[in-house]
Amino acid sequence: MPTYFVRTFGCQMNEHDSERIAGLLEAEGYTKADDADAADLVVLNTCAIRENADNRLYGTLGQLKHAKQRRPEMRIAVGGCLVQKDKGLIIERAPWVDAAFGTFAVGELPALLERRERTGVPAFEFREQTEVFPSALPARRTDPFHAWVAVSVGCDNACTFCIVPSVRGPQVSRRMGEILDEVGALMDEGVVEVTLLGQNVNTYGRDLDGRPLFAELLRALDGVDGLRRVRFTSPHPHDFTPDVIDAMASSSVVCEHIHFPMQSGSDRVLRRMRRSYRIERYLAWLEQIRDAIPAVAVSTDIIVGFPGETEEDFAGTLAAVERARFDSAYTFRYSVRPGTEAAGMDGGVDPAMVAERFDRLVAAQERISLERNQAAIGERVEILIEEPASRKDRRRATGRTRTNKIVHVPGAGRVAGEFVDVVVTGAHPHHLDALPA
Ligand code: 5AD
Ligand code: SF4
Repeated sequence: MPTYFVRTFGCQMNEHDSERIAGLLEAEGYTKADDADAADLVVLNTCAIRENADNRLYGTLGQLKHAKQRRPEMRIAVGGCLVQKDKGLIIERAPWVDAAFGTFAVGELPALLERRERTGVPAFEFREQTEVFPSALPARRTDPFHAWVAVSVGCDNACTFCIVPSVRGPQVSRRMGEILDEVGALMDEGVVEVTLLGQNVNTYGRDLDGRPLFAELLRALDGVDGLRRVRFTSPHPHDFTPDVIDAMASSSVVCEHIHFPMQSGSDRVLRRMRRSYRIERYLAWLEQIRDAIPAVAVSTDIIVGFPGETEEDFAGTLAAVERARFDSAYTFRYSVRPGTEAAGMDGGVDPAMVAERFDRLVAAQERISLERNQAAIGERVEILIEEPASRKDRRRATGRTRTNKIVHVPGAGRVAGEFVDVVVTGAHPHHLDALPA
């Protein structure tokens, strides 16, 4: 039986697609290999969000070229956002790739591999829109207790820095009944936690007949038997409407965690990014959310060094971070994405200055994250065990709170997928320590 290995770059939507890729291959008789070196087929599921994603892909392809020289029968397939962006360029730059498929052609992989064998030349397939939702394909899930459920793909926003609309297309939502059926089937398989995915998850339904609302979907999930935790990502602050907040506040399954991408604390920069809110509005929304859901934890995304960002703009970002007191933040150096509107803007910030601002931002956020985590010491919380014992420390298990915090607990006897009540005993910027309650 041939073996496969899938390596995933990028976001949760890609993790979701990779589970479908694995499911398709298993349906074709492949079995999973432990690592890329041993596999008959290596699939790279790529990301295009920042330039280093490009570099990492071509670096990995370089390593695979050597592996293939040693084992010419090995096959290499590349899919995902970077393929959608670069199209035929991948095969030109890495002619040892056997198959390439864009974001709308996940389901084509088996046919492409077959075509590659038949013709002896690389096979590729790109489309410009979704025909089959990857969610309709079989899945081989990484964790038996957790499932990604795509509610929509694509994005109708036009943030000037972002490549996603051009590689994932306009928003296409799935019918609510289909989503609920999928969740029901997952319950039968023992899944307890579901993460709803969409590039702009809270505009779910806008493109469907009857325009079902994201809040309705959240409410419908509250009654599903066996479902313990619902997460969703990633929302746009602008579309975080009061009915979504209400649905979260009144739901017993939707977790108390919100990813609320701020991007910048400067109105001038937000305008140039074409983010529809201004910083005071953003902070007011945050306050509303915290009022309605007192236990909520908030994470964010912030870009440093957007074209034209001055020291004063950056000071605005630092000030907003101090006021918002996020539990955690994903911080990024701005990366030029050819084809986006921002790529044509002048005012590029000197990389040394970007690095310096980035470090200041990370230091501020780490301090705030630590303070917020320290406030949890002594609290009793429920965690879902994700790793019975981590590779680093065999005696320690790792779980996650409803608020999306990573928690380390003594590992003996812990099983992945199990809920454990713990008391928080220690805090770090990126995780908590705890003992069974
Ligand atoms: N450069 C840097 N960061 C970016 N992001 C998106 N595009 C870029 C870019 N060109 C960040 C945003 C987004 C997150 C997923 O990635 O913060 O919310
Ligand atoms: Fe990367 Fe965006 Fe594609 Fe996700 S949707 S893999 S973040 S480019």
